[in-house]
Amino acid sequence: MAQQRSVHDHLLYVSLDDVHFFGGIYTVIKTKAPVTCAEYGDRYTLIGPLSYKSAPMEVEAIEWDKPTPLNEDGTPTTTNTANDALVGSLSSMRDRGVKFLYGRWLIEGGPKVLLFDTGSVYNRLDEWKGDLWNLAGIPTPPNDAETNETLLLGYLVAWFLGEFSARERSRAIVAHLHEWQAGLAIPLCRKRHIDVTTVFTTHATLLGRYLCAGSVDFYNNLQHFDVDHEAGKRGIYHRYCIERAAAHCADVFTTVSHITAYEAEHLLKRKPDGVTPNGLNVTKFSAMHEFQNLHAKSKQKLNEFVQGHFYNAMDFSLDDTLYFFTAGRYEYRNKGLDMFIESLARLNHRLQQMGSKQTVVAFIIAPAATHSYTIEALKGQAVTKQLRDTVTEIQNRIGARLFERTVRYTGEHGTEVPDPNDLLSNEDKILLKRRVFALRRNSLPPVVTHNMADDANDPVLNQIRRVQLFNRTSDRVKVVFHPEFLNSNNPILGLDYEEFVRGCHLGVFPSYYEPWGYTPAECTVMGVPSITTNLSGFGGFMEDLLEDSQDYGIYIVDRRMKSVEDSVNQLTDQMVSFVQKTRRQRINQRNRTERLSDLLDWKRMGLEYAKARQLALRRAYPDSFEDDDFDFSDNQVRIPRPMSAPASPRWQSGLMTPGDIGTLTEEMQSLGTSDYAGAATWESLIRKGDKAED
Ligand code: UDP
Ligand code: G6P
Ligand code: GLC
Repeated sequence: MAQQRSVHDHLLYVSLDDVHFFGGIYTVIKTKAPVTCAEYGDRYTLIGPLSYKSAPMEVEAIEWDKPTPLNEDGTPTTTNTANDALVGSLSSMRDRGVKFLYGRWLIEGGPKVLLFDTGSVYNRLDEWKGDLWNLAGIPTPPNDAETNETLLLGYLVAWFLGEFSARERSRAIVAHLHEWQAGLAIPLCRKRHIDVTTVFTTHATLLGRYLCAGSVDFYNNLQHFDVDHEAGKRGIYHRYCIERAAAHCADVFTTVSHITAYEAEHLLKRKPDGVTPNGLNVTKFSAMHEFQNLHAKSKQKLNEFVQGHFYNAMDFSLDDTLYFFTAGRYEYRNKGLDMFIESLARLNHRLQQMGSKQTVVAFIIAPAATHSYTIEALKGQAVTKQLRDTVTEIQNRIGARLFERTVRYTGEHGTEVPDPNDLLSNEDKILLKRRVFALRRNSLPPVVTHNMADDANDPVLNQIRRVQLFNRTSDRVKVVFHPEFLNSNNPILGLDYEEFVRGCHLGVFPSYYEPWGYTPAECTVMGVPSITTNLSGFGGFMEDLLEDSQDYGIYIVDRRMKSVEDSVNQLTDQMVSFVQKTRRQRINQRNRTERLSDLLDWKRMGLEYAKARQLALRRAYPDSFEDDDFDFSDNQVRIPRPMSAPASPRWQSGLMTPGDIGTLTEEMQSLGTSDYAGAATWESLIRKGDKAED
């Protein structure tokens, strides 16, 4: 039966990882959807769990079970339709109690989404737990809510794929699943011999993330971990089993970077077939320098925040102030927050020693448990807003007086310009004084904007205390820790994340564990220079591509070959040299950074996904392919050198694809570990990439 399917015009079903699982994986799914839609149109559906809270804002429902009304000429009145196989599958599941939402995701391209309400099948949890144990020997402990969700979603997706593949007989079906939370359907499909082909992509390994967050020398010991024992010790054995089963049962297994491929090979015990690096939707403005204007506009908003936050302590000029930031999920060691704060302290010291007139305001955006904003943070914004409003009122009154006096000019010499002292009335002066007195404060500007749930034990706060970055006037480096993701309704820092990034001068992401790392990539496409490390997927990717990445505003800290002390010093040096740039040099560097955007566009990066699907189809339906069907190095997919490419990227041949030419082919499996690009000799290279100690 399988051979009857056409592999040249296949359906694609991608499993959407959880929308409440914010962070980089959500960015992957959301930003990639438009290019996949462009390729597959309505043959592309994203599948995931239903959140009744967010779905109504994000998805427009399709009435899939009603016949589509026709126009007079017999054509359907809407493209919001479902095909027969889908209607049959959904009806069958609905009749057995499954609830779901089928509709269009309200993003560019409007892809179809099928979101399952896992709560509607909760009554089957125990039955499915038993089944998983019998089928695969995977235990599921009673109190792990995330695993329960994973199990329910996995069984629903496998159920749906079974129903659908039984009805859709003409085209091949590719299911591409991301992360262990969505991956359980893969072993189920395999065991049930469901006629779909599967791709599994990991964006990290569970065990890797856990091991790095502790105090393990991860990269030097990757080959030696007793994985079952380590997973058991951390109470994640069952989750680890699910991840490993998904990786082993998938037709094609990929990771987002070479460093994670290496990690997966050792921790999940399957060598990935290749690398599917992450892209972005790159916005090109018609006016080339529009992104520079956006920087200036957003920076103005940050200036206003800073005036509010540092009121009564503004002994620094905003013209000589630079905004640095780090942002991401609060993984203190993995995201390099430890290294960032230590280097900021050294930067502070160096700038003080140099007698620099520059001030750096360093933002740390990392969500933690809080009880709302501090009174002090709110007050700062309120008093400066009052002052700003008062100044605007007075300004209007002065303008009116100025006009009123000048319009009455009668030609008498010396009365052309009124006396400036007459323009500010006594009432205005009193009002202004009142506002200025309200700016008095007896404490230093706060380092944190929120009341922390566990202030005394918070690792970021504790390190700030240890290095004494207390926002004193003598400090050239000021710190603002904002323990919540940003959004434009925020009462104190009212910008969305993109606007915030545009307003900053430098993103700093000294990660120890970072399979890809969208944050520096997003900086790049917005023309904002950033610092990353050669332990992050993105850092490795850029290092492979650029002769001298620093020139392009991509600074890479060596956390592989250097000791922690040396890495901290390198990071400090990079920040010091950035601070020493003139405005003109910063503007030029931003231009060069922005020119790298094309390298990160899904239009190019999506190619590896196409290769992964092709390989999966080839493995599932080998007889349907001619030998020359799988040629990604011919002219059709040749990647032209982008017009805006800087002079030095090593991206010269036009034959390479982003993951690299050696991967995602059958040959990959026969090659050794050293074939991961950018990791030429991992075993010998990684010597000093040991853990950051406090
Ligand atoms: N992000 C966000 N709001 C913020 C800070 C970060 O939406 O205030 C997003 C950011 O745009 C990025 C993601 O969080 O896409 C973080 O992804 P990354 O790959 O850097 O790290 P992950 O969280 O996946 O480990
Ligand atoms: C952009 C704007 C310029 C502005 C500059 C400030 O390039 O187009 O008008 O002078 O930003 O740059 P800076 O690095 O000092 O924030
Ligand atoms: C994971 C990784 C991150 C990566 C993201 C998207 O969350 O931690 O490094 O960028 O997935 O692939």
